[in-house]
Amino acid sequence: MYYPDELVEEIRAKNDIVEVISGYVKMQRKGNNYFGLCPFHSEKSPSFSVSPGKQIFYCFGCGAGGNVFTFLMEYENYSFQEAIKALAQRAGVSLPEETDSREAREKDNKRAKLLEINKEAAKYFYYQLRGKSGQAGYQYLKKRELSDETIHRFGLGFANMTGDDLTVYLKRKGYEDRLIQEAGLAAFDEKHGIHDKFWNRVMFPIQDSNHRVIGFGGRVMGDAKPKYLNSPETQIFDKSRNLYGLNFARTSRKGNIILCEGYMDVISMHQAGFTQAAASLGTAFTEGQANLLRRYAQEVILAYDSDGAGVKAALRAIGILKEAGLSGKVLNLEPYKDPDEFLKNRGQAAFEERIRQAENSFFFEIRMLQREYDLSDPESKTLFHREIARRLCGFSEEVERENYIEAVADKYHIGFENLRKLVRSYAAKTGFAAPPVRPKSGIREKSAPDEGRKKAQKLLLTWLVEEPAVYKKIKKYISPDDFTDELYRKIAEGLFGELEREELNPAALISLFTQEDEQREAAGVFHTKLIQLQTKAEQEKAFHDILVTVKRNSLESLSAGLGNDLSALSRVIEGKKALEELSKTHISLD
Ligand code: UTP
Ligand code: MN
Repeated sequence: MYYPDELVEEIRAKNDIVEVISGYVKMQRKGNNYFGLCPFHSEKSPSFSVSPGKQIFYCFGCGAGGNVFTFLMEYENYSFQEAIKALAQRAGVSLPEETDSREAREKDNKRAKLLEINKEAAKYFYYQLRGKSGQAGYQYLKKRELSDETIHRFGLGFANMTGDDLTVYLKRKGYEDRLIQEAGLAAFDEKHGIHDKFWNRVMFPIQDSNHRVIGFGGRVMGDAKPKYLNSPETQIFDKSRNLYGLNFARTSRKGNIILCEGYMDVISMHQAGFTQAAASLGTAFTEGQANLLRRYAQEVILAYDSDGAGVKAALRAIGILKEAGLSGKVLNLEPYKDPDEFLKNRGQAAFEERIRQAENSFFFEIRMLQREYDLSDPESKTLFHREIARRLCGFSEEVERENYIEAVADKYHIGFENLRKLVRSYAAKTGFAAPPVRPKSGIREKSAPDEGRKKAQKLLLTWLVEEPAVYKKIKKYISPDDFTDELYRKIAEGLFGELEREELNPAALISLFTQEDEQREAAGVFHTKLIQLQTKAEQEKAFHDILVTVKRNSLESLSAGLGNDLSALSRVIEGKKALEELSKTHISLD
């Protein structure tokens, strides 16, 4: 924690969440809350809500949630510290300079310095491209049919033939050798001393979703190797959590994201109006990137190269998308190699048509699979059908599975009943695959014991926020120590304190956490869709059950780690008494 809690809370309190979010999202008041289209995933009807009373936001569609800090962290890709600074400025609160620990300050400083030096380098490359020594680069981009507007929009630049001009320039600006190297802009060797990493290359600045330059890709003029040279990972450049072009794509609102392989593909797609295009950064598509995309769209269309490597990469990406709960489609670009070439030869309308025809990812997988079998040979054909059946078992929902069986049977001329039988017999051996586990809230769901334990703790916290009056009746049975989950214990400590002082403030509790995902989890506690039971009696029973469950779990975990600890033993004994009493006590919610 860099700033004192009271200061963080002051800043939060001075920035009304409805006002701040209104600057980003169009919202309408409905009852106590405001509703609008969620900026973190793509949707047609509003499930994004902001509560002025609780000063938190929550999206029922994608689960995004938190306080005003979280919103800026997610929307602007700020760290907690950066969100605090931005909102302090907005509210005119001055921040002390010296409260940070030295280490924290240095780290923060390093990030800022790296961002600064990357920006400086981007400016330098940009300027070079317009100058005399950049003519070759400019001509190259023109030959690739990029307009001046596009070149400007993507901040393209040029690293000229000289081997150390950028380094000299940056040093003159006051940057130290070490920082220049750490940013990946220069390298050192015995023979050349310190020298530029990029030269004779067209430069593509890589921006985070907040348009800040975090690294570069550089394409060589001509055929030298490597074709593209990329910045190494640094404290600000995590390749598995950023995508090229996402800074524009995330606000394109096309209902899908088109994922391509290369920088040039992204740029020519944007130029042709497909502003939802993004690409991974010279590395394979990752789970982190899929999670990032989930905030902006439900559907991802793969526009990978049509060669063998592209197909392989697409098959991998499909698996990752599925895991992340995104639906995937695959674009057919034949007879062209990649989106850039396709657009040049066929144009925008034809591309639009290919998007409409994009293939469902399961069909794509099966079609690629088919290439490995010889369908004129009965034995090979049988193996192919078995493999199809095996994969169909991956659909755990019956309706969906039946629909796919029907569609595949039709497509590959297999008898529907035969295929169905094959799937059944396969499932009898191995079972239908469990659906990917996606966190959902609700009381009735069954899940792993650990999940169940966590859920009970979360629900108990939610109840206390909704029915603060009940706190007095239960505080003799339950304490924050009964929350075995670390995150929930931390919330419980804060919440019990607030309830004791009779000043409930959910938004302040969220600021106890510095990470977005923790804040999101904490916000989940404070939205009330969890509790939707009808009658008072039902509610009281549910509440009682949760209370008993939390207490029992806490005792179980305490006993499990007991050993010879006498004080723990006496706590267990006391706890058991409390549990027994609690089990017999009726707690009314009036
Ligand atoms: P491609 O070779 O398909 O790129 O590599 P491209 O965009 O079609 O290149 P042009 O059209 O010839 O300019 C796809 C992506 O793989 C990464 C880059 O991110 C590139 O955009 N790559 C490729 C590298 O990182 N290094 C390489 O040497 C080659
Ligand atoms: Mn290309």
